[in-house]
Amino acid sequence: MIDYKALLKEKLQPLKAEHRYRVFTNLERLAGEAPYALWHKDGISKKVIVWCSNDYLGMSHNLEVIDAFSKAAHKYGVGSGGTRNISGTNFNHVTLEKTVADLHQKDAGLVFVSGYAANEASLCALGEGLENCIILSDEKIHASMIQGIRHSRAEKYIFRHNDLEDLKQKLASFDIDRPKIIAFVSVYSMDGDIAPIKEICALAKQYNAFTYLDEVHAVGIYGNKGQGLAGLLGLNHQIDMIQGNFAKAYGVVGGYITGQEDVVDYIRSYASGFIFTTSLPPAVAAAAKKSIEILKEDSSYREKLWENVFHLKNCLSKSSVHFLNSKSHIVPILVGDAYLCRLLAQNLLEKYGIYVQPINYPTVPKGQERLRLTVTPAHTPSMIEELVLALEVEWTALSLKKAA
Ligand SMILES: Cc1ncc(COP(=O)(O)O)c(C=O)c1O
Repeated sequence: MIDYKALLKEKLQPLKAEHRYRVFTNLERLAGEAPYALWHKDGISKKVIVWCSNDYLGMSHNLEVIDAFSKAAHKYGVGSGGTRNISGTNFNHVTLEKTVADLHQKDAGLVFVSGYAANEASLCALGEGLENCIILSDEKIHASMIQGIRHSRAEKYIFRHNDLEDLKQKLASFDIDRPKIIAFVSVYSMDGDIAPIKEICALAKQYNAFTYLDEVHAVGIYGNKGQGLAGLLGLNHQIDMIQGNFAKAYGVVGGYITGQEDVVDYIRSYASGFIFTTSLPPAVAAAAKKSIEILKEDSSYREKLWENVFHLKNCLSKSSVHFLNSKSHIVPILVGDAYLCRLLAQNLLEKYGIYVQPINYPTVPKGQERLRLTVTPAHTPSMIEELVLALEVEWTALSLKKAA
């Protein structure tokens, strides 16, 4: 008899031994009470402040977005009823696709059940469909992109993170007429650093390559309409495919790609992860569209976010806490050890009601364990100051170093 349970349980041992076994924090993020949430543990609930949500602008609690969601749910029900091809295409999917295409000034858009699915399915289909294709990807792309590239079985090369020289050398080593895809991300979510989009586009042009850009952490936040970094820099026409999602700054769920009509049509027609799955609930699509529309028109959410980001970075720079002063809204606190990182997070949560999830391998390399702070418009200056004060106390108590 094979003991399947024992075999699989054994796989959990190294995670536990290396302090990277994932422990979920059981929360109730109550609408209208952000950034507070109720934390449930051992039958007790406690009010905490959330410092690590990707609901960057608090749109998941926005009353107009909730209203769009609930009205559509009452009108269309809670499920789409099928895959896009078999009864699951709703008016709301179609209008959302037009909305994302307009946002990025592209011909067409295509909506997926998540950003993960959008990356996995699109990169897989592109790598499969372009005969003899090579995919060159930045070493820090998201797991969903890695999976898509792997599943495409295309020849693949990894260039050093944001390293134009390395990318250039690799591009130059292939026949100019061979199809090549450069896959990269605009805002890298764990370090908060930003891709040299303009320079990568120039290389793509020089070496005849197709550009695929993940803007998941940029849409809603960058650009005067939330159109992302490529849009902010006026480079959207130089990117062949822009991918994004509705789950971070837009506060809902789902993912998308935008690009030229025929290219998007190819993905629509061939990508397994698009075709063989039930489409997003229409209410989700309606909520996502409303959120995009609000953030297109109203910059006050972004302005408040940046005020808070600058205040947080400013407070941290006066402390002994080691943080990465990135150009983005993401503020990583570098601990550099899985056990200490977990302990720091635990102390913050239990002693101060400050919730920030420890980030461990494989999300970041071993030795680069961190807390990833995300401040939102709902945090107040005094909350930020109290956070930094608590961090400083616990950082010192654990004898953590400035240069971890
Ligand atoms: C860079 C990047 N791309 C894609 C995704 C996947 O998006 P989603 O959460 O919508 O599946 C994530 C999620 O964290 C991400 O960080």
